[in-house]
Amino acid sequence: MTLVKACGVAITYSCALSLGDILEIRMEALKGVRILDMTHVQAGPTCSQLLAWMGADVIKFEPPQGDATRGQLRDVPNADSLYFTMLNCNKRSITVNMKNPEGKKVFIDLLMKCDIIMENFGPGVLDRFGFTWEKIHEINPKIVMGSIKGFGSTGPYSDFKAYENVAQAMGGSMSTTGVPEGPPFVTGAQIGDSGTGLHLAIGLLGALHQANRTGEGQYVEVAMMDGVMNLCRVKWRDHQRLTRQSLSEYSVPTQQGMGETPRAGNDSGGGQLGNAIKCKPGGPNDYIYVVVQEAVWDGLAKRIGPEIGLPDLATDARYAKIGDRRKNQNDIWAALTKFASNYTKREFMAILNPLDVPCGPIMSTEDLANDEHVRGREMYVELDHPQRGKWWNVGMPIKLSASPAVIKRSPTLGEHTDEVLKEVLGYADDKVAQMKTAGAFSLPPKK
Ligand SMILES: CC(C)(COP(=O)(O)OP(=O)(O)OC[C@H]1O[C@@H](n2cnc3c(N)ncnc32)[C@H](O)[C@@H]1OP(=O)(O)O)[C@@H](O)C(=O)NCCC(=O)NCCS
Repeated sequence: MTLVKACGVAITYSCALSLGDILEIRMEALKGVRILDMTHVQAGPTCSQLLAWMGADVIKFEPPQGDATRGQLRDVPNADSLYFTMLNCNKRSITVNMKNPEGKKVFIDLLMKCDIIMENFGPGVLDRFGFTWEKIHEINPKIVMGSIKGFGSTGPYSDFKAYENVAQAMGGSMSTTGVPEGPPFVTGAQIGDSGTGLHLAIGLLGALHQANRTGEGQYVEVAMMDGVMNLCRVKWRDHQRLTRQSLSEYSVPTQQGMGETPRAGNDSGGGQLGNAIKCKPGGPNDYIYVVVQEAVWDGLAKRIGPEIGLPDLATDARYAKIGDRRKNQNDIWAALTKFASNYTKREFMAILNPLDVPCGPIMSTEDLANDEHVRGREMYVELDHPQRGKWWNVGMPIKLSASPAVIKRSPTLGEHTDEVLKEVLGYADDKVAQMKTAGAFSLPPKK
């Protein structure tokens, strides 16, 4: 059990103190906010997990068979998968069959008790249950509703389902990632799913603030394609610049009027030049990303030039001004690569840091899992789980000074069904028993 209060980093929780004890010694930012979370897979659960880490009471409302990710990519037999556990911490799980009339009554009762409802079903699923936004708003005018769709509720693509890479393909990310002569690439960061979840969290908090002032909830829609476009904003900057000029900072050829923004390898994408430089001993992640910021060129050139047989690099007219360096940037990458062939990425970093050169070794997941900085900031935290034992989650990336996150394991399927029915909805034992018999929380028996 670690408690780090002063700097507001996350607190990991593993049973030495009860959650109740911990709640008493701090105030959660979203304490008192209750969320009916119908989200599944990754995009929605990313959002609700963050809100739960900020203290919201997130009730994960699952079909009787559970979120499909519980069983996907399993690494421990019969245990909830890491796919599920890593995205559903700090939530309570209730299973309800929305195709059963009694199940729908539970849904309506929960709507009355929640501040936010959120979902990321395929197009039309909630409408088919009989609950359009208009109907939900009528039942609880103050509730805020969040929806993630692949392409939103309007436009020619609105009927289509989407997954991460579909959004990366259609939002402009893939066409601008990779090298011009190679195929388009997806990025490792889940910008289509988790990126959209972040957008939704912002929308929900804005709408909640407004609902608290006006008493009126609203519908918050985030399309994955829109979210990816937002995250590719600088590529749209370049798209428009291409109507007037070539892109002098690109290492690949560009010309005015070429239309689409090209793939540009590891170019920095900003006003400063940058690239990934190969280091010793030449393994797949033995690279360091170096930004040759204008202000640091002189010091950098003086440090590396003499060691690679270019003692005059700092005064060479071909690299004197930023425009020259852009034009001849491939020489600079070659010089840095020659220098780096004698150093590991960490050794090169240690040379560059005192020169104030912005740089970063390419960190593998293994590097990060063992990194002192990552551990110190509680960005990779150990948890316990009744089915899988010890496991690790990526920590809370948003550090609130007065309300540090308490990271608590994900719920097992339906773990809190009775608790939520009784504590939140005030159902008596016999009512719960009756509803169970009527099939409100289970799948109908197979015929
Ligand atoms: C992710 C996605 C492609 C998955 O598609 P899918 O597995 O076919 O799931 P859908 O969301 O379309 O449908 C869910 C089904 O479960 C059923 N279901 C969900 N909750 C239920 C409940 N509590 N009780 C009974 N049935 C339930 C729905 O009725 C639906 O079945 P139906 O088509 O017979 O009506 C789709 O949900 C989607 O496009 N979502 C929006 C975009 C998105 O978030 N994608 C990223 C995911 S990381």
